[in-house]
Amino acid sequence: MRYAVFSDIHANLEGLEAVLEKCAQLGADSLVCCGDIVGYNADPNACVEMVREKGVRCIQGNHERGLRDLEEGRVPNMNPVAMEALAFTREVLTSDNRDWLLSLPHQAELGGFFHIFHGSPSDPDAYIFDPFEAAYAFKSLINDYSPPQNLLCFIGHTHVCAAYAFDPDNHRVVEKKVRDGDLFAVKPGAHYMFNVGSCGQYRGGIPAATFCLLDGDEMTVEFRFLEYDLRACQEKIVAAGLPPILAQRLSMGQ
Ligand SMILES: [Fe+2]
Repeated sequence: MRYAVFSDIHANLEGLEAVLEKCAQLGADSLVCCGDIVGYNADPNACVEMVREKGVRCIQGNHERGLRDLEEGRVPNMNPVAMEALAFTREVLTSDNRDWLLSLPHQAELGGFFHIFHGSPSDPDAYIFDPFEAAYAFKSLINDYSPPQNLLCFIGHTHVCAAYAFDPDNHRVVEKKVRDGDLFAVKPGAHYMFNVGSCGQYRGGIPAATFCLLDGDEMTVEFRFLEYDLRACQEKIVAAGLPPILAQRLSMGQ
């Protein structure tokens, strides 16, 4: 069984289409998204409808929780640009798509051997940027979730790909920098956390749509970085009246 795991689509239809097309070419059996399907970019309904149509297993991200905050009269914990995009998203989303997003769980266990979270196993809104922050996340993963031989999880939220391994013998976390095509073997007894980056607003310094392919038989995880129709996505952001910085940052990978 091969799982394509992606995250942070953020209403970027062109990025999502590029990832789904590659997943089909690679023969992925199951599609998984670690949250933030909407926000920032201009195509929330089309992206929600595409993941629903394809049967993508999704959890909520902080942008879906932001929608819930708005629905319930609370102020989301977001910067002004993200808030502007969230207000646009709320305005244009159909009630059916909104209700579907708000019905998603905050985390999931899939295939009986891996978990997905948006930010961290300990806190869905926490960012994991380095081995120090990853160490706290592994503590929660190991202490709070039923452990099979390996503890394997996939996260998003930072919009930057990363691979962290935890050695249970010396309690050390090692971070591996990730590039396109990197393949990691999941070794028996060790624990892993893979950040799958973002389909819709990659922040690793290049304009890319990223995802991971998990082979549950071989127990390998492969990272893929794709080009997509950036110009089309940027033009839609501007045409929708969203803040122009949201179009500009896509070119810079920020
Ligand atoms: Fe995000």
